[in-house]
Amino acid sequence: MKKIAAVFMTLMILLGLSACGSNAKQKESGKSINNKATTQEKEIVKNEDNETNNILVAYFSATGTTKTLAGYAAEYLNADLYEIVPKQPYTDEDLAYYTGGRADKEQNDPSIRPAISGSVENMEKYDTILLGYPIWYGQAPRIISTFLESYDFSGKTILPFCTSHSSDIGSSDTDLHSLAANANWLKGKRFASDTSKEIIKKWLDSNELISNADSKVGVFDFKSHTVMLNSGYKMPIMGIGTYSLSDDECYNSVTALLKSGGRLIDTAYMYKNEAAVGRAIRDSDVKREEIFVITKIYPTQFSNPEAAIEEALEKLDIGYIDLMLLHHPGDGDVEAYKAMEKAVSEGKIHSIGLSNWYVEELKEFLPLINITPALVQNEIHPYYQENDVIPYIQNLGIVVQGWYPFGGRGHTAELLGDKVISKIAKAHSVSSAQVILRWNLQKGVVVIPGSSNPNHIKENLDLFGFELTNDEMKQINALNRNEKHDWY
Ligand SMILES: NC(=O)c1ccc[n+]([C@@H]2O[C@H](COP(=O)([O-])OP(=O)(O)OC[C@H]3O[C@@H](n4cnc5c(N)ncnc54)[C@H](OP(=O)(O)O)[C@@H]3O)[C@@H](O)[C@H]2O)c1
Ligand SMILES: Cc1cc2nc3c(=O)[nH]c(=O)nc-3n(C[C@H](O)[C@H](O)[C@H](O)COP(=O)(O)O)c2cc1C
Repeated sequence: MKKIAAVFMTLMILLGLSACGSNAKQKESGKSINNKATTQEKEIVKNEDNETNNILVAYFSATGTTKTLAGYAAEYLNADLYEIVPKQPYTDEDLAYYTGGRADKEQNDPSIRPAISGSVENMEKYDTILLGYPIWYGQAPRIISTFLESYDFSGKTILPFCTSHSSDIGSSDTDLHSLAANANWLKGKRFASDTSKEIIKKWLDSNELISNADSKVGVFDFKSHTVMLNSGYKMPIMGIGTYSLSDDECYNSVTALLKSGGRLIDTAYMYKNEAAVGRAIRDSDVKREEIFVITKIYPTQFSNPEAAIEEALEKLDIGYIDLMLLHHPGDGDVEAYKAMEKAVSEGKIHSIGLSNWYVEELKEFLPLINITPALVQNEIHPYYQENDVIPYIQNLGIVVQGWYPFGGRGHTAELLGDKVISKIAKAHSVSSAQVILRWNLQKGVVVIPGSSNPNHIKENLDLFGFELTNDEMKQINALNRNEKHDWY
């Protein structure tokens, strides 16, 4: 905080501004643009048509700047607007910088919780909350902490935004995560005081979760064959895994996948085929933004995760990485994860997650990081079902993906030839492979079967012309042997 504040202070001195000096102008703009939002008695302003939807724009604004932008967002989203009004309003004196005044004191003491006048009625009806605040010495004002601790945000999505004189959002948003730990926090954004309606619209449009508020995190959409991640990005629910595929095999398999309409590819540093994945993508006719690439960094890379991220970006050579995972727990995994968090803020990676993390590992790891993983990839097949782990992860708003769907090489004949699975396959006129993949999808598990056979690749995408009955799901569930096919 000291560093941000010092940079900010230097800028203010250079520009000859003070907090009080900028107030008048900001107050004017706040009033003229969003009259609705100025009423403090009625804190929630219903959208124009008096219809309500599931988005609330909640904001605190001491001098009107954040209020204006919150008004733009609420108007565009047709959302309700709630002003977080302090019981004791902030005077110009309270806001004056470095005077030891009220704002200074509050920001210097993380335990302070300024009281709020009024409250949000029916918070339970909102799925998504846009949370706006001004930056105060690099942080969100403490009244935002009061707000976050006043409600249960479990399962709700929070999208923070802030206004500032010059500072970026920094860690002001991620610092808030622990105050509503069970919410799905999206990456926040900072805006300048002269931000236009158009810029706010563009920002909201670019955030799929908000622009398509019907999409619920973690719920599979069997029409579009995608799932919304807690990061705000959509991911296909079926694709291909590239473990053990040589460079040429991998290139051909990814090419076959893209030709057959598949868009999800799983690779890793350890598979030594990231470059082939990238080459196949660049050589295809499919637009980059339609493709979703997962790669992983290996524990041997955790000592220099920044270099590992750069290496993956270079080898793939497809601009950005859609999702990067830590391949296994290991020494330095927290620091490696934090390096991925930084790469997210730099736009190099869209989403981040973990692989081979089970309940105990997650319990230990999650409190140590800022961005909730978007996905956890673990071994899952009919003989190793992880029935306790899957719901635990899903309840955290994290998508589950299964590796070794056919049991992995050396086990596929037994699994694909399993009597129960074969009988169900026959009943639907599909293959055993398709039954296993569909069983995963109906459990909410994303599938990435490995294959170097174009016919298999095509077949493995063809999962939506049949549905397993409850009884068939139960029959496959009963095959669980807790039989792990690899050590991790
Ligand atoms: N995170 C981790 O630690 C981890 C660990 C292991 C794997 N993974 C990921 O999970 C992916 C899947 O695992 P995997 O590839 O090792 O094993 P898998 O998907 O369980 O099995 C692959 C085997 O199944 C065969 N196969 C694929 N489709 C078939 C079909 N329709 N009919 C008959 N056989 C079919 C393949 O042969 P053909 O080539 O002949 O089709 C291949 O021999 C990996 O590729 C990797 O991306 C991650
Ligand atoms: C106490 C205080 C501290 C501030 N600290 C910062 C800061 O660290 N960096 C920055 O760029 N702006 C800082 N500002 C400026 C405000 O973030 C900026 O003017 C903001 O847009 C005000 O929003 P509001 O009008 O909604 O209150 C500070 C303002 C106040 C009053």
